[in-house]
Amino acid sequence: MKRWEDIYFYPSKTTLEFTGEINSNSVLIKGEKHILIDPGVSRRWEGLKGAIAADGLDPMDIDLIFCTHCHPDHADAAVGAAREFKADLLMSMAELDFLTSGGDRFYLRTPSGEEIPKGVIEVPDASLFKRGYPGPLFHGGREYRLYLTPGHTPGGCCFHWPDRGFLATGDVYFKGTIGSIELFGSNPGDMYRSVNLLGGLRDVEKVVCGHGPEIDGRDDVIRNYDLLFAEIAQKKAKGIL
Ligand SMILES: [Fe+2]
Repeated sequence: MKRWEDIYFYPSKTTLEFTGEINSNSVLIKGEKHILIDPGVSRRWEGLKGAIAADGLDPMDIDLIFCTHCHPDHADAAVGAAREFKADLLMSMAELDFLTSGGDRFYLRTPSGEEIPKGVIEVPDASLFKRGYPGPLFHGGREYRLYLTPGHTPGGCCFHWPDRGFLATGDVYFKGTIGSIELFGSNPGDMYRSVNLLGGLRDVEKVVCGHGPEIDGRDDVIRNYDLLFAEIAQKKAKGIL
């Protein structure tokens, strides 16, 4: 659904019945050619394409797919989608290295703690990559910025559109809490630095997180950082971070 001008938000639950399977939120940045951020799980892919088409956008016009990180709930559909649309795929080189050195050791749990099938994502073929990053991203006459934000995973990245005050955080943080720092490849010290880095982006007023609700308005963005830094202080006091 259109959430802000040229920014379409597809919350995970709109295209997948809850089955215990984790899925991420997705975002489409509308332009001459579109950018899709975090295509999610493969099983949801047809549903997501349908939702995009229902918004009057042609999924075939997606020419760039950006994955905030390699966890399958965000990136499972990425390689197939990039091939289908002949789109470029962006994931940080640090994350790609992580993926190819054990980063696929990620399994999903139901809310009651049961393990469900391990998520495995296809390692992208080098030809799908536009280039390594982070750094500025020039696409369709616009400038976006990509930040390396490790902590949840070693090569996680966030997507920033300064002109519109938009930020996609992946699993660095959500509304009310920081992302998990207890997974294989997580690093609490890096997470602290990454939240700090994002907190320093003073123009941000629209945030889509990897899971859960969006954050709308500068006041809510600031309030959310207050919560995140309080959580970080608590975790530091307990020696977790
Ligand atoms: Fe994740």
